[in-house]
Amino acid sequence: MKKTHPIRELMNEEGLTSLSVSHDWRTGRVCWRAGYEWDGSMPWSAYQKTFTFESCLAESPRFYGHEAVLEMFRARGIEPVREKIEELLKAGRHQGIDFYRESSLDITFMNNMHANILGIKNGRHAIRAGGIRRHPLSDPELEVIVDGLNLARAMSFKNAAAEIPFGGCKCTVHSEEIPLTDLARLGFLAYCLDRSRFFTGPDMGFLPELSDVFHDHFTDNITGGKKGPLGPTGTPTAYGVYLAIKAAAEFRYGDAHLRGKKVLVQGLGAVGFPLTELLIKKERCSLMVSDVDETVVKRLLDAFPEADITVVSPEAVLDTPAEIFAPCAMGGIISEAEIPRLQYDIIFGSANNVLAAHSQEEEIALAKRLAARGILYQVEWVHNIAGVMAGYEEYTRGKEADRKRLYAHIERVCGEGVLRNLKEAGRLGMTPTEYAYRKIESRIYPDLTPSPEMVR
Ligand code: PHE
Repeated sequence: MKKTHPIRELMNEEGLTSLSVSHDWRTGRVCWRAGYEWDGSMPWSAYQKTFTFESCLAESPRFYGHEAVLEMFRARGIEPVREKIEELLKAGRHQGIDFYRESSLDITFMNNMHANILGIKNGRHAIRAGGIRRHPLSDPELEVIVDGLNLARAMSFKNAAAEIPFGGCKCTVHSEEIPLTDLARLGFLAYCLDRSRFFTGPDMGFLPELSDVFHDHFTDNITGGKKGPLGPTGTPTAYGVYLAIKAAAEFRYGDAHLRGKKVLVQGLGAVGFPLTELLIKKERCSLMVSDVDETVVKRLLDAFPEADITVVSPEAVLDTPAEIFAPCAMGGIISEAEIPRLQYDIIFGSANNVLAAHSQEEEIALAKRLAARGILYQVEWVHNIAGVMAGYEEYTRGKEADRKRLYAHIERVCGEGVLRNLKEAGRLGMTPTEYAYRKIESRIYPDLTPSPEMVR
């Protein structure tokens, strides 16, 4: 794994527990630092009992400055890795990444930070919000970093679009599966989470119950548990995406009802499954579904024996015509190469970062190519945001979290807000993606001057 996991090797060999890179998009400055902050025998399951995230945990801690870290990369001949990370931070205007590594457990925790501007004055412990996602060790490290950074950037925009006072980040955990009974590993993750000052909710690779275990043992900086006041966040997210699809249909066909329309849902996971339920119960559309896991497909077919559902094989998804395509699985599925063969009127789903892009400009360019093919698409962070809205309601109000208030918020943002975005973009002759970015970017990058028509 030397080649594919260079940071893991570097931290193991140098005995580092922490490595961090900060970037300032205004000046272009990048700064690296590293540390040895705890000893290998840490009893992580006792986190919050015998120590907190601010305790001194090493007999003799060591810290390294910028030059020393650069030398570590140089000495291993992995400077291209450092350069690539810096290039990604610059392209996405990110604030940086904090890596924490527990080599005895073979876990790397990455806090991918995009922006904090919306959160710094919120008066809370967490200043950013973003999901926690796990990648198996077989995924190359660079892929994990790219995924985390793209998701972190989307989170800044989601939070701004949802009008919640938090910056954007995403946590990626690079490790083998972590059983919910493994309190040593979970304690380590909770320590890193608290130290990173964000609130989170379980994303791919973790179950909603992760949140319940964290609450029971370690921290309240996590939401969306089965025992939480609002339950798992996939359900509200599906409702927001459902409303957005209807708004898109209204914009495109002049009718929000989907009766008779072919809707293709890729991925029947935490969001895709409840989305298909809403479509079946409320719309009577012709549903096409696809998932790599056949048991979940069977579960849907068994639950709705009367519904009009066709199963599409995962490889055939992008070649299957439909009026509406709702990607609800992995991101990065549409690049320049796929666009000519897509046969949809509308692409609106829940998957984050459906377009394979590393920066907002690349994303805007791909969205234009879709528009040129007559496909109505809008960057997902405008409408797949009810998960973090639920997280916000729970994080800020705890047991007083109110489903009614949440659902009214979702209707405002994902229903009315989406229709407004589509109409305004149309009026200005822009893609909905570009319009959404132009409208919000000046709040996230306050030095960028918005164009006059955006100031309202
Ligand atoms: N994981 C959610 C998403 O990708 C965001 C989220 C953040 C949910 C924090 C709950 C809490 O949109």
